[in-house]
Amino acid sequence: MEMSPIPKTAPFADEEIDLLNRVVGTATPVQRAWLAGFLAGLDASGGTPAVHPAAPARPAEPLTIVFASESGNSEKLAGDIAKSARKNGLKPTVIDMADLDLSTLTKAKKLVFIAATWGEGDPPARAVPAYNELMGEGASRLDGVEFGVLALGDTAYAEFCAVGKKIDERLAALGGKRVIDRVDLDLEFAKPAARWVGDAVKALTPPNAGGRVIEVDFGGKPAAPAGTDIIEAEITEHVDLNSSRSDKETIHLALSFENGAPAYEPGDSLDLYPENDPAYVDELLKLAGLAGDEKLRSDFIKSRDVTTLSLKTVETYAEKTGHQYVKALIADGQAREWIAGRQLVDLIANFPIALDAEKLRALTRPLAPRAYSIASSRREVGDEAHVLISAVRYESHGRARKGVASNYIAERLKKGGRVRVKLKPNKHFALPAPDKDVIMVGPGTGVAPFRAFVQERRATEASGRSWLFFGDRTFTHDFLYQLDWQDALKDGALTRMDVAFSRDTPEKIYVQHKLWDRRAELVGWLDGGAYFYVCGDAKAMAKDVRSALVRAFADVKSLTPEAAEQAVVTLEREKRYLQDTY
Ligand SMILES: Cc1cc2nc3c(=O)[nH]c(=O)nc-3n(C[C@H](O)[C@H](O)[C@H](O)COP(=O)(O)OP(=O)(O)OC[C@H]3O[C@@H](n4cnc5c(N)ncnc54)[C@H](O)[C@@H]3O)c2cc1C
Ligand SMILES: Cc1cc2nc3c(=O)[nH]c(=O)nc-3n(C[C@H](O)[C@H](O)[C@H](O)COP(=O)(O)O)c2cc1C
Repeated sequence: MEMSPIPKTAPFADEEIDLLNRVVGTATPVQRAWLAGFLAGLDASGGTPAVHPAAPARPAEPLTIVFASESGNSEKLAGDIAKSARKNGLKPTVIDMADLDLSTLTKAKKLVFIAATWGEGDPPARAVPAYNELMGEGASRLDGVEFGVLALGDTAYAEFCAVGKKIDERLAALGGKRVIDRVDLDLEFAKPAARWVGDAVKALTPPNAGGRVIEVDFGGKPAAPAGTDIIEAEITEHVDLNSSRSDKETIHLALSFENGAPAYEPGDSLDLYPENDPAYVDELLKLAGLAGDEKLRSDFIKSRDVTTLSLKTVETYAEKTGHQYVKALIADGQAREWIAGRQLVDLIANFPIALDAEKLRALTRPLAPRAYSIASSRREVGDEAHVLISAVRYESHGRARKGVASNYIAERLKKGGRVRVKLKPNKHFALPAPDKDVIMVGPGTGVAPFRAFVQERRATEASGRSWLFFGDRTFTHDFLYQLDWQDALKDGALTRMDVAFSRDTPEKIYVQHKLWDRRAELVGWLDGGAYFYVCGDAKAMAKDVRSALVRAFADVKSLTPEAAEQAVVTLEREKRYLQDTY
């Protein structure tokens, strides 16, 4: 006779309970006796993992875990917390803030939020509607809800962990009971996050919940999903797609891999591990009086972030050197303003003081990889991966500045060179079913993933239509992948294309203007179920594109601004408005 001996209240995920029931429910008495003895023996012998022998006497306490994530770090941590909570006798539910219905929070007794900050202090794009609701006047009280917040961020940004901080304040203001203090974590978050996860689960577990706290040890190296190890690639093509008369330089890189390309999908990115400019490092060492230190020089070039100047760096400098002027800068509240547009080299040049290697090293953090959208489909390019990299160059405070990774690629790597990369999957920016229409808005390097989309749709002979909006400075000098688009229009992989070249006309025209011009057809495609993708600049473009779409809905369908906004929110909620912006 079939039975389901494991109750739904057991401290396992629903799918695990189903699996257990499939095995235990059909087991014979002999098999069950063997299993009981085996588990008891395993526990007694201290074998890992230790399992509590008796099922908890009462239903496992629910724990709601909400994550707000763009590039997956918060999402991964949410999974880690769920695992730890489950082992500790709780029953966790993980919710992407993109799908959050605020009434879930009111009903939750125990709540963990993991939130990343993007843009310039903004929530991750797909979390925006729920975030605004939570911050809005209509948010319900959360009296008695026990909560903890983990904030992810990057100290290089002025608004460090702003979103996590605001959520933490808001949950408390709505009556929630903070049972564990928030932590604000920088790019190297693995170890402190693991500590916090352990503490949070302890704080949220009622006494006698039926489990014991499992220490989480990520050992500074979170377990990578399969196929996402760092691998070395050879550069088989290194081509500047701008003309020699352009004031921009955008490099198309084709990478090949000895043991086959990582299993990427259109919409994924590659993390690229750069090296610093030796000339910059030499200047820094000279200013610090450490010019002859070859070991430090090599370490700085290969593995330390020697350009970022954060508030934390300035504070460390004041603390390590006791420099009076730097102390005064902090005490007067001027430091934040002073660091804008400056780098570590400016701090040492402006406030020189004797430094030893250890003190200088303490001002740096590990050199982080940079993400680049994959611009190819494996179905078309086989064992290669293509990326499109724009060289970041600008001037500030009288110095010429160069972006670390983009100039490592543009200036110092050549065809035949080698580079270290790691696959960064993005399941939230994937193509829909082949029969669905797609609208792709990708000015500048934002067009990269759409080259992958178009290649994929060609290779799979997808029946859905594809419409690309591209923009850059000039038609003649900056039309990235022009020939690819012409071919795709010819063979039907691309149904239509609209372009905006901002410097070809006296009045600047951008992709959002083209969206507005084509608003009737655009809304028609969306009403017919099309998916809308935006990639590229987060600061201005993505916001302008969204507001152009809201205005397009208002105009074409004679909606009030509020109803038009709601139409776009609905697209976002249905996951038909997808962004990958930076
Ligand atoms: C998911 C994702 C996908 C991406 N895809 C691509 C892609 O396909 N192609 C691409 O080229 N890039 C892409 N990027 C951006 C890329 O990761 C890097 O941020 C970019 O190449 C700059 O890196 P860098 O090391 O050269 O510059 P960094 O050394 O990191 O310097 C950049 C910093 O310099 C400062 N800065 C830049 N310009 C100015 C200015 N004008 N004035 C003052 N300060 C300035 C800013 O503080 C900025 O953060 C993507 C980013 C993400 C997150
Ligand atoms: C384009 C961009 C903008 C960012 N803006 C901020 C910011 O304003 N403040 C901050 O603390 N961190 C900022 N970050 C850092 C992210 O919050 C950090 O990488 C975090 O680990 C991402 O988590 P996620 O993968 O869950 O999205 C930014 C990162 C990128 C790539």
